[in-house]
Amino acid sequence: MNPILSSPAWQELGREAERWQALTLREAFAHDPARFSRLSRRWRDWLLDLSKQRLDARILAFCGELWSQADVPGWIARMRAGETINHTEGRAVLHIALREAQPRAEVAAVLAKMRAFCADVHAGRWRGATGEPITDVVNIGIGGSDLGPRMATQALAAYRLPHLRVHYVANVDGADLATTLASLRPEHTLFIVASKTFTTQETMQNALSARAWLASALNEAAVARHFVAVSTALDKVAAFGIDPAHAFAFWEWVGGRFSLWSAIGLPLALAIGYERFAEMLAGARAMDEHFFTTPPDENLPALLAFVDLWNTDFLGICTRAVLPYSHSLGLLPRYLQQLEMESLGKRIDRDGEETAYATQSIVWGEPGTNGQHAFYQLLHQGTLSAACEFIAVRKADFPLAGHQEKLLANCFAQSAALMWGKSESEARAELAAAGAQASLAPYKTFPGNRPSTTLLLPRLDPFELGALIALYEHKVFVLGCLWHINAFDQWGVEYGKEIAGRLLPMLEGKAPIGGVDPSTAGLLEACRQ
Ligand code: F6P
Repeated sequence: MNPILSSPAWQELGREAERWQALTLREAFAHDPARFSRLSRRWRDWLLDLSKQRLDARILAFCGELWSQADVPGWIARMRAGETINHTEGRAVLHIALREAQPRAEVAAVLAKMRAFCADVHAGRWRGATGEPITDVVNIGIGGSDLGPRMATQALAAYRLPHLRVHYVANVDGADLATTLASLRPEHTLFIVASKTFTTQETMQNALSARAWLASALNEAAVARHFVAVSTALDKVAAFGIDPAHAFAFWEWVGGRFSLWSAIGLPLALAIGYERFAEMLAGARAMDEHFFTTPPDENLPALLAFVDLWNTDFLGICTRAVLPYSHSLGLLPRYLQQLEMESLGKRIDRDGEETAYATQSIVWGEPGTNGQHAFYQLLHQGTLSAACEFIAVRKADFPLAGHQEKLLANCFAQSAALMWGKSESEARAELAAAGAQASLAPYKTFPGNRPSTTLLLPRLDPFELGALIALYEHKVFVLGCLWHINAFDQWGVEYGKEIAGRLLPMLEGKAPIGGVDPSTAGLLEACRQ
């Protein structure tokens, strides 16, 4: 059984939750004028503001007791020692080893190979089969072999090198590959086939179609100069026809959704240059150091985990909007969906028992200010209670006059409005002052008391981005410990893949439709007619 359930701190949190059902954030700020300084934390030049969450220092202290009860420090030590903490797959969890200052020999060798390859492509020493330089790189991968480098390439748009465009293709829907290839010339295009297992259906289909496109425009022999691979399965890479000399290895102890720091980051390193990629590793390393050495009350990943646990298990808030007020971080919500929901979207604990408490909430979001004109209506006045996570960046990465202040003003306005709300009497007074109809007051009322976190970064550069991603990785780690679940397997995505494998021959007309439920049979029939 999860050891934290029997701890006094868990019981205390239950009592605190009852207290907070009757307490509003307005009241909490009125009772404690120092609430902002009490509930905000600084790390380097970051600011994490938890004062608009429905909690207080006592609650964080009880969560700190859960951290000890769950033996988070012990789990950190086991992870760092390379123990098989991913027990259902019999694997160690060592993505942190990819960004050490002095990485182990196998990691250092791959990083050196990436550096040399990037230098060759950038300098035009690596050329296509016809002797043309590479102008376009297409990463073919999905899930962890796509989302990390794709998100980071967009996040670091301000650092992209000129003369090299990097594209990402993930979906097995041919529209993804076809629309990407439409603007490319084969002689100038390099494909990276990125797959930990090198068996993923979507990636293999896209890789085969890309190879056919290239070979029909040039010839089969040209494939060698236009395809490289990133994988743990180097035998399968060779079987696909990619020269092992052009393969970049990683290892089974790197989970797919934690693999950005490995050669899975190759398209990013090509986009921004290897030196910038190394700066991102350094940022992640700085966050590792903070996580490993800081007590829970000052430890940023721990604090984010505490907020999620509190909102989910004690306040019953099961949806969280990630709202980056940074266009460049626009793909962060999608990246976090995999990182958090694939890691923690589980109901069986480390002892094989069903959890008696809720685990991962739904993660979603859009960058601000765009989201304000789409779903914020619901956040402010809907019946559903969501936790919001605002991520703002002080210094613009694309400094156009007049933009950044408006962006930040909107960000801070939204969290203030969510927290403060507007009572019906306030709405009435405003309407009266404006000479408008009093009957509109209920529509112009905002319940408020809607919790949010704001994380304020100084700037968005490779170092800060590396630290930001590592922050979320470690938050997932802490929640895995607190919820007593293995955050590193993903059996939940296997079942659907298995059924798709059985349906495929039926759809292709190679097998009779059978052994499926009537609805699925009906859908298959409709496609075959
Ligand atoms: O979605 C399931 C999953 O196994 C992810 O964990 C992984 O990132 C993705 O598929 C892609 O897998 P691969 O890198 O082996 O192609």
